[in-house]
Amino acid sequence: MATDTYTEKSKNIAPNIAVSAVLVPSQDLPLDTPTVCGYDWENGIDYNKLLDSYSRSGFQATSFGAAVSEINKMLKSRSVPLTEQSSDPYEEDSYIKKKTNCTIFLGYTSNMISSGLRDTIRFLVKNKLVDCIVTTAGGVEEDLIKCLAPTYIGDFNLNGKILRTRGINRIGNLLVPNDNYCKFEEWVTPILTEMVNDQTTDGVVWTPSRIISRLGEKINDENSVCYWAWKNNIPIFSPALTDGSLGDMMYFHSYKQPGLVIDILGDLRRLNTMAVKANNTGMIILGGGVVKHHICNANLMRNGADFSVFVNTASEFDGSDAGARPDEAVSWGKIRTNATPVKLYADVTLSGREIEASQAKRLERLSIACSALSLAYSAQAECDNE
Ligand SMILES: NC(=O)c1ccc[n+]([C@@H]2O[C@H](COP(=O)([O-])OP(=O)(O)OC[C@H]3O[C@@H](n4cnc5c(N)ncnc54)[C@H](O)[C@@H]3O)[C@@H](O)[C@H]2O)c1
Repeated sequence: MATDTYTEKSKNIAPNIAVSAVLVPSQDLPLDTPTVCGYDWENGIDYNKLLDSYSRSGFQATSFGAAVSEINKMLKSRSVPLTEQSSDPYEEDSYIKKKTNCTIFLGYTSNMISSGLRDTIRFLVKNKLVDCIVTTAGGVEEDLIKCLAPTYIGDFNLNGKILRTRGINRIGNLLVPNDNYCKFEEWVTPILTEMVNDQTTDGVVWTPSRIISRLGEKINDENSVCYWAWKNNIPIFSPALTDGSLGDMMYFHSYKQPGLVIDILGDLRRLNTMAVKANNTGMIILGGGVVKHHICNANLMRNGADFSVFVNTASEFDGSDAGARPDEAVSWGKIRTNATPVKLYADVTLSGREIEASQAKRLERLSIACSALSLAYSAQAECDNE
């Protein structure tokens, strides 16, 4: 009888263990914790507000917002004028010579130059928004080859066997006719001959950055990143310069005229010296692998970068350097312990386009984008004008 009454009563009461598990009381969050809030499309399009809304949207949009503010910090530091004490009047290498109060290192993988991001990168280099570049071989040759013949949009699913029979190469969903590389061979071979002659007759020591600079000068085309880098004395480092079509051409050329020697240590001195001499440094690294490690390692020489933004798709669970979060670089002394680095998990082509569309319209000028550097730059320019 007693058991029946108990069952009767408890039918109407949720079990205590469940109630206390689900309805745990919260402690207050700090007062300045931002609330989640998206963009209100009812008010039309305000590009500034739209971009501002990223940081309060959550997930990678919030990281995107954080990346923009980290880059703004780089630019604020960069805007401090150099003084007699803080400049290096005795540096003779115009590529190394300090140009601003914050030396910005930009790294990008080869495929970014294969894609439309090349135009964004060219904008940054043409407008002297970065001081030093690290890329891989494809990041150099694809830029030059695009001056000779175009790259096309294709599809990730095109059949490799059929493409091979047609002499078409695939990079993701981009297509590069093999004829482009034949044109590249025709263009670059006489330049390689000149380089060997300069080495034997004038004792020129060819480092990858000097080779890239010569190629930028020779291409003489304002569409090229390498051209603007040469013109603006911005070094492009590429320690594995032979791992691409340029290496294939050097290999063929070495049968015609052997003897070209490439000094990678000379470039390491140049790159590390830029980091050591810099008053402050900022790293914007798009993609992973060599480009990421090479810039971070140079910044180890100064006990870490002051500002850092990594944008890539790689994860850290496999222990790869490509996927390592900034905190791992802090442990190595490659990022300063008091810095506020940001990693944005994204395909750079996509994170770039979002800014590109909005900025281009707002500023009514060229594409800006990818690393958000230009966004920050423009925002700052506007602040300066106010
Ligand atoms: N167009 C080309 O991709 C091309 C052309 C010629 C030679 N190569 C050679 O292939 C080798 C390997 O290329 P690599 O070192 O330039 O990089 P990679 O293509 O091997 O990429 C390295 C890492 O960067 C990240 N990444 C790449 N693309 C990204 C994107 N769109 N968004 C976000 N993250 C991205 C990924 O985590 C990836 O694992 C190099 O030696 C290069 O010279 C490449």
